[in-house]
Amino acid sequence: MASTQKGGGDGQGPCLLLDDLTVEFGGLRAVDSVNLTIETGERRVLMGPNGAGKTTLFNLVSGIYPATRGRILFYGQEITRYPIHRRAALGIARTYQVTNLFRCLSVAENILMSCQALDRSKFVMVRPLSSYRKHVNRCDQVLEEFNLWEKRNELVKNLSHGDQRHIEVAMALAEKPRLLLLDEPAAGLSDAETKELSALLKRLDPSITILMIEHDLDVAFEFAERITVLYHGKFLTEGTKEEIKNNAVVHDIYLGAE
Ligand SMILES: Nc1ncnc2c1ncn2[C@@H]1O[C@H](COP(=O)(O)OP(=O)(O)OP(=O)(O)O)[C@@H](O)[C@H]1O
Ligand SMILES: [Mg+2]
Repeated sequence: MASTQKGGGDGQGPCLLLDDLTVEFGGLRAVDSVNLTIETGERRVLMGPNGAGKTTLFNLVSGIYPATRGRILFYGQEITRYPIHRRAALGIARTYQVTNLFRCLSVAENILMSCQALDRSKFVMVRPLSSYRKHVNRCDQVLEEFNLWEKRNELVKNLSHGDQRHIEVAMALAEKPRLLLLDEPAAGLSDAETKELSALLKRLDPSITILMIEHDLDVAFEFAERITVLYHGKFLTEGTKEEIKNNAVVHDIYLGAE
């Protein structure tokens, strides 16, 4: 059930396949020979203690760091050496662990920037009005879809942390991705905000594949069918909620440390 939202890839195989993926920073192997398969439409949580390599793995998949070794396949197409923008154009979007918005711009202006981010014509100085209209229409659609219409003219810096996290997810989705990488989207949210975020994630198009880094067990267990645990850059284990909850090693190195 490969999505037709974006071109590229032969549509065969899982949404994401990591094969022996490794990155070294000096002597530190932050991601160490990781093999991982994520099927289309899957909701997967990536867990692991601080420094386990979770964000680094996202940085490798989204193209921020080049891999030292191994391969990244997106719908069967090898993207290991592709630059960031080419991966984004294929349909890989992400949010960041630390909020990454233009704080002095309005909600609508932030969303609009995401809407035009992948448009190659943005570099053309003189272009038809319709090309702007297309992005403005998409922006309005995203504002409506994510209940941000009322706040569209507010400056981001004046909004709550919860609202800002919500906008980041909306911005990533404005690009109509096939694979969404969420790096601790619930970090720093109140219980009510976390519930709202969980509800928003549940409403998303089921054909979008989502890989989420999450420390909050309630959020993780509500969101994902399967959970993968990293430890010291290495794949430690993978399983259902029950399997992960009852895994003694996971309990010792991660849950036990809570
Ligand atoms: N650009 C870099 N240069 C050097 N070391 C790095 C770099 N990026 C990450 N690291 C190191 O790689 C390891 C993994 O970091 P990473 O941020 O991926 O962990 P994490 O699992 O996301 O942890 P957290 O739960 O705290 O966010 C850490 O030891 C970190 O210091
Ligand atoms: Mg991290």
